[in-house]
Amino acid sequence: MSLDFAVPAAAPDTAVPDSGGTARPLSPNALRAVVRDLAGQPDRWIHRVRLATGDRWYERLVSAEDHEVWLISWLPGQSTGFHDHGGSRGAFAVALGELEELSLGGPEDGLLVQRVAPGAVRAFGAGYLHDVRNTSAGPAVTIHAYSPPLSGMTRYELRAGGLVRTAEEGPEQW
Ligand SMILES: [Fe+2]
Repeated sequence: MSLDFAVPAAAPDTAVPDSGGTARPLSPNALRAVVRDLAGQPDRWIHRVRLATGDRWYERLVSAEDHEVWLISWLPGQSTGFHDHGGSRGAFAVALGELEELSLGGPEDGLLVQRVAPGAVRAFGAGYLHDVRNTSAGPAVTIHAYSPPLSGMTRYELRAGGLVRTAEEGPEQW
């Protein structure tokens, strides 16, 4: 049994208000547990899934003070492009299909390409940048959790000299 199973899913009553009255962010490990639990219960979300030929399809499943959960579908070829999560921590689970994740976690901060297999979960802290893409031949469905809830994201392009900021996004664009 992995340590992660000992981390409770993020029930609203686990939020601990700080002195400012806002909820304390969940840890990446807690977010990992949230997405893994939901990915393992397709009866809670599979009837909502749609596929879109333009951009990826997505819908928010949970909107709590301390975290939010999104359901996303990916047709072959659909991708996020490089982005951060605006200071939020996050995790995602591949519930159906498989994806590929590009990050700068390779040697000397070089490009790292990792297959995210069916059932796999990735979790990350604030400041993490990645590009997630469906390079497979079939659709994929993923569950994502962020804490605090996403308030903004920056998009980047990978150029010869490294990542270059290209755009800022806010919730009004989601
Ligand atoms: Fe992301």
